[in-house]
Amino acid sequence: MTATLRYSDDGLVTQGLSRAQLPRHIAVIMDGNGRWAQSQGLPRVEGHRRGVKSVRNIVEECARLGIEQLTLYCLSSENWKRPRKELDFLMSLLEQYVIEERSDIMRQDLTFAMIGRRDGLSQGVLREVQKTVDCSRQNQGMRLCLAVNYGSRAEILDAVRALAREAASGRLVPEEISEDEISRHLYTAGMPDPDLLIRTAGEMRVSNFLLWQISYAELWVTEKCWPEFRTPDLFEALRDFAARDRRFGGLNG
Ligand code: IPE
Ligand code: IPE
Ligand code: MG
Repeated sequence: MTATLRYSDDGLVTQGLSRAQLPRHIAVIMDGNGRWAQSQGLPRVEGHRRGVKSVRNIVEECARLGIEQLTLYCLSSENWKRPRKELDFLMSLLEQYVIEERSDIMRQDLTFAMIGRRDGLSQGVLREVQKTVDCSRQNQGMRLCLAVNYGSRAEILDAVRALAREAASGRLVPEEISEDEISRHLYTAGMPDPDLLIRTAGEMRVSNFLLWQISYAELWVTEKCWPEFRTPDLFEALRDFAARDRRFGGLNG
């Protein structure tokens, strides 16, 4: 098996990109699977199935670009409101993806992570995810992070509870709680904050995704639904990102 070929600097320039202007961490709200399926006269679940193709494409491209982390929103803690049949389908699709992707994750030298609450996930998903986390641990390339049963408010709540327990036991002085300390108690501890947040299917909202971490992320929304999102769309987002003036509250120039 051959390792994934990285884009050369010249290869990037022909795409209108430069390495120095790429985001370290891209997060994606992969939305519109159901609407895409509906537009094709297919059942909603076919949209999820087709969405896996987009995942494979974007993971490969981000790895080739040398992006440090790609975080994909796969299932929110609010998505449990959906019909049981759709949830069962999503769970088995995820398990199948993690099994089938393992060799590609190794070929592409990716590390694998999952964020979100474990409860409610099938035993199969938990087992296969753990296997992939374990076997990819020593890899050096991009971190692929799946947000599954993820809700940002639940994540912040879990962090607050952990901090409160430490304070109550005397191991932590409340006045010494810093922003970094809070970050260290989130599921994303040790990960860089996203620089670019992409959302497909047009909604101008963040749907409880990484609320703390996206404080200064650049937002990029496309009308395209996730199953039709491909390399040219990613490159368009990256070119737009490169043209943004990120001031972080300061002044430019
Ligand atoms: C995103 O697509 C995938 C998940 C939320 C699991 P949707 O299933 O939300 O598709 P739309 O938004 O209904 O079209
Ligand atoms: C966000 O999409 C969650 C995922 C993409 C996994 P939703 O379809 O759940 O978001 P809302 O309900 O339109 O805000
Ligand atoms: Mg949706």
